Amino acid sequence: MAFILSPSILSADQGKMSDEISMLNDSLADWIHVDVMDGVFVPNITFGFPLMKTLKKTAKKPLDVHLMIVEPARYIKLFAAENTYLLTVHFEACHHLHRTINEIKECGMKAGVSVNPHTPVSVLEDILTDADLFLIMGVNPGYSAQKFIPNTTQKVSKLKEMIVKSGSKAIIEVDGGVSLSNAGELLRAGADALVAGNAVFGDANPLSAIQKLKDLSK
Ligand code: DX5
Ligand code: ZN
Repeated sequence: MAFILSPSILSADQGKMSDEISMLNDSLADWIHVDVMDGVFVPNITFGFPLMKTLKKTAKKPLDVHLMIVEPARYIKLFAAENTYLLTVHFEACHHLHRTINEIKECGMKAGVSVNPHTPVSVLEDILTDADLFLIMGVNPGYSAQKFIPNTTQKVSKLKEMIVKSGSKAIIEVDGGVSLSNAGELLRAGADALVAGNAVFGDANPLSAIQKLKDLSK
């Protein structure tokens, strides 16, 4: 089955980011995953608008921006201005999620909603037809190269069933701990998109790691 592969540049060599972006531009990767962390919603602090401006100029793949920040609605327009294709916010970070999803779409972006490992997918029931994508975390957000939480696969199957039943066209992305050893089971469970940080950039040959993951499509 065909799927979307979105390498996470959190795991890239930050000292040679322009080379890493060129590598992704020339690869079979479908999207580029950008992890924005604020040190409040998650313990880590990562990227902001300076990197988004660079990506706007250099990235040739759609930008899949994952906001791990509190009150993400404050920044919707700014991310839209930097060529963001898909803007994902966390369920746990939004008081008015329905409004936030609509604002993202009104700004011309696809709207994604992410759930942490402790958040059941059942809470997404009433926004199934509103969001374009649901991102299921396979680890607690904050860092790359963490161990995959096995319950994630069941969450994907359950959400897929809910989506099909509701008639929603939303797709499912899995982020955190994805590797060649669990990607197949996640795709069979119903994942449509996979984020890969360490599985790509932790490999001596990231281009061939991307190729091997994409080969699972066949
Ligand atoms: C974790 C981030 C992920 C992370 C994935 O908080 O949201 O996107 O970069 O990295 P790996 O694939 O190494 O778990
Ligand atoms: Zn992410």
